[in-house]
Amino acid sequence: MPSGAHWARLDWAGLDWAGLGSAGLGSAGLGSAGLDWARLDWTGLGWTGLGWTGLGSAGPGWAGPGSLAGQYFHDVEDVESVGTGSATAGQWIERDAAVVWHGFTQMATFPSSEPIVVERAEGRELIDVDGRRYLDAISSLWVTTLGHRVPELDAALARQIDRVAHSTMLGNSNTVVVELAEALAEIVPVDQPHFLFASDGASAVEQALKIALQYWVNRGAPERSGYLVLGDAYHGDTVGSLSLGDSGFGTGIFDPLRFEVSRTPGYGDPGWLDSALDCLMRNADRLAAVVMEPLVQGAAGMLVADPRDVAAFAKACSDEGVLLVADEVATGFGRTGKMFASDICGLHPDLLCLGKGITGGYLPMSATVAAHHVYSAFLDDHVSQRTFFHGHSYGGNALAAAVALEHLHIMERDMVLANVTARGAQLGDLLEHSVAPLEAVGDVRRCGLMAGVELAADTGRLNAARRVCAAAVRRGVLLRPLGDVVVLMPPLTTTADEIERIVTVLTHSIEEVVGSEPDAMHAHSRERA
Ligand SMILES: Cc1ncc(COP(=O)(O)O)c(C=O)c1O
Repeated sequence: MPSGAHWARLDWAGLDWAGLGSAGLGSAGLGSAGLDWARLDWTGLGWTGLGWTGLGSAGPGWAGPGSLAGQYFHDVEDVESVGTGSATAGQWIERDAAVVWHGFTQMATFPSSEPIVVERAEGRELIDVDGRRYLDAISSLWVTTLGHRVPELDAALARQIDRVAHSTMLGNSNTVVVELAEALAEIVPVDQPHFLFASDGASAVEQALKIALQYWVNRGAPERSGYLVLGDAYHGDTVGSLSLGDSGFGTGIFDPLRFEVSRTPGYGDPGWLDSALDCLMRNADRLAAVVMEPLVQGAAGMLVADPRDVAAFAKACSDEGVLLVADEVATGFGRTGKMFASDICGLHPDLLCLGKGITGGYLPMSATVAAHHVYSAFLDDHVSQRTFFHGHSYGGNALAAAVALEHLHIMERDMVLANVTARGAQLGDLLEHSVAPLEAVGDVRRCGLMAGVELAADTGRLNAARRVCAAAVRRGVLLRPLGDVVVLMPPLTTTADEIERIVTVLTHSIEEVVGSEPDAMHAHSRERA
């Protein structure tokens, strides 16, 4: 039986990643205060370190919309053995806490927060050590595309293991990495592309910003060392990518490490384009590059720009001779309905950053893609200072490359982009009809299968979005907030039934939280926010 202890655990599991942690009180709207909270909430996601990569059909515990949370899960005795022997979730958490340090997680409260410990996955569902199933509606922090345990991806991995797992790309090469680069070259919106592989999105951004700087040095214009970036941007957590990203996300403490950039408002400001153009014109001759998330600022709470504005800004960058770096770590590989958001905006960036979905969520891999005119500025007939002296030990890992290559084949074979378009439209319709009209909802934003439901500033409930996500988890659907925004980011292969299930669960979860007793402290908290 799911005992009281299990209930407590479930509650905590939800509250740990989506619930009432200590990261702040997401109550303000899209004003600056709201965005500050969004950043704080980014830090509260203790579960993001768990490496979930799953998805799946409706779980056996799914009892339909409106059911009590307990009905969404099998009794522990009912589920097939998950191979953890007699080890309980509590024991796993204890073992974890003894040796693991989770990112974006307060480790002192980690054990008592009883996080979900994933043991395996099936389809689009994650299964914890007690056999409970969760529909992964956030694609394991936006990386999962096709699903978990995709037979073809598993087979590609196994085939590559029989050849070689890894060999360095520094000064040498590997056949599967060449094959992957050739396949990617056919689809990236970059002219005569060259691929510098790394392992994480932040590393791809870091590489891009260093390439941009050295590009100008190599061309005899070292004074062009500045970067123009947008407000509310997020580009990763290494010092360089952190500098390009806006302060906040709980990262203000690192401000002394951030280098100076020119920053103009993000997509949440209707005047973002004018401000960006103005700054570009005034500073063009000292800028190395403009760095932006084309079309959607994901971590800012799914702020969506007009593609024509993005195109206009890109053209201005080109006219002014400033390099354009498109960070498509989040938007790349089908998320927006096209392979790349740049395709929607008609961009041909000088540098493109890829990550997350590149291996379908299987293995860490990222890439910085340089247009030929950028790449060629580094060429020389000997190892001179024109060389790009940068590289990562695991850059161009063969196992990751084999999976990434197979992933591209499946995306095409199964017409995954068409599914994103269809399911995205369905998601948009359902959100518009059943979620947007709710009094507690302030705004709904969507692009492809990236959506954000921003709760109204005056729900009268502390941490409303977190509580909504916790309520959804109790109904077997994994959601997570960014401040006041509930993020919906299902896998690209998600089905019509799953989209319905996600929206139904979200609707009931919002109603549950709003129907709860208002928080007496709320008004005071909002003042502080
Ligand atoms: C636009 C963008 N760039 C870079 C990153 C950093 O990627 P990673 O977490 O793989 O370092 C992210 C992560 O969410 C992102 O959304």
